Amino acid sequence: RRKLRKLTIPDFQNFCEKVKEIYESVKSAISESEGETAAYIPQLSKVNKDLFGISICTLDGQRFDLGDAHENFCIQSCIKPLIYGLALEEHGEEIVHNHVGREPSGVAFNSLSMNKKNLPHNPMINAGAIMSCSLIKNSDPLHERFDYLMNKLKELSGNISWGFNNSVYLSEKITADSNFCLAYLMRKNQVFPKNTRLEETLDFYFQCCSIETNCNKQSIAAATIANGGVCPLTGRQIFNSLTCRSILSLMSSCGMYDYSGEWTFKIGIPAKSGVSGVIFSCIPGLGSITVYAPPLDEIGNSVRGIEFFKQFVNAFTVHNF
Ligand code: DON
Repeated sequence: RRKLRKLTIPDFQNFCEKVKEIYESVKSAISESEGETAAYIPQLSKVNKDLFGISICTLDGQRFDLGDAHENFCIQSCIKPLIYGLALEEHGEEIVHNHVGREPSGVAFNSLSMNKKNLPHNPMINAGAIMSCSLIKNSDPLHERFDYLMNKLKELSGNISWGFNNSVYLSEKITADSNFCLAYLMRKNQVFPKNTRLEETLDFYFQCCSIETNCNKQSIAAATIANGGVCPLTGRQIFNSLTCRSILSLMSSCGMYDYSGEWTFKIGIPAKSGVSGVIFSCIPGLGSITVYAPPLDEIGNSVRGIEFFKQFVNAFTVHNF
């Protein structure tokens, strides 16, 4: 006889009802006029500030969507843990960390600061993500590198395709002075892998930030990482478990900009934030939650997103400590 498996969240319906209550409470407590959309990338400043979506995916593939969970938005910095994962899969931890550190930077995500070895502080800030890009299929033509990334994203999210927003890409590219500075500084410091084509690497980075996701697929990809690399929907091993451990460790220490320490203190689960207003989190042993609500606080985190997670850890015992 087939044995019935125990579900990750046995009373999923009850759990979802509580999440819905928190969603409603955040929506009424925080109006869409609290916070600002990112002004430095023109296309991001134009989005509807009232959008608010949440998706949950458990390690065994139970899923729940709320509000604007299927609204597409560009992934921005939430791609950083994923491209770091691709770099690790291709080269392993030792080689990757010859090119990028793993300590929090204590400075803004785009600041012109390197660590004592002249390397980017970690892969969760712009310089570190540009470095991850340089470590992905470095000698292949750009179209093949991009296809490779898109296929991996699709596998991480259980065969759902991801999009690309060309106007965000174009807008990103013409407002990228600080990213150009970071890349030239790293080239001057000779810390890129051999044969890195700088302009192409930057282009790849801008394309990475302009990939379109939504809460729904982002939460499946996040659950794959929380699940040691096995996609909850397909059962396929996409990343190895050590890659996932490294991603989660750095999301924990560096994922929430200059709020990373405070986040780990208060919320206590690995997460990554993006300037489009998204926060995705991986909850070891449970699954993942992605929240999208565009207006940002002064640090650059979604105002409603932060409030949602504060209320969520009050309601459930998910804080790692
Ligand atoms: O390069 C930039 O500044 C944006 N494309 C990414 C910004 C972002 O979400 C900040 N992240 N750490």
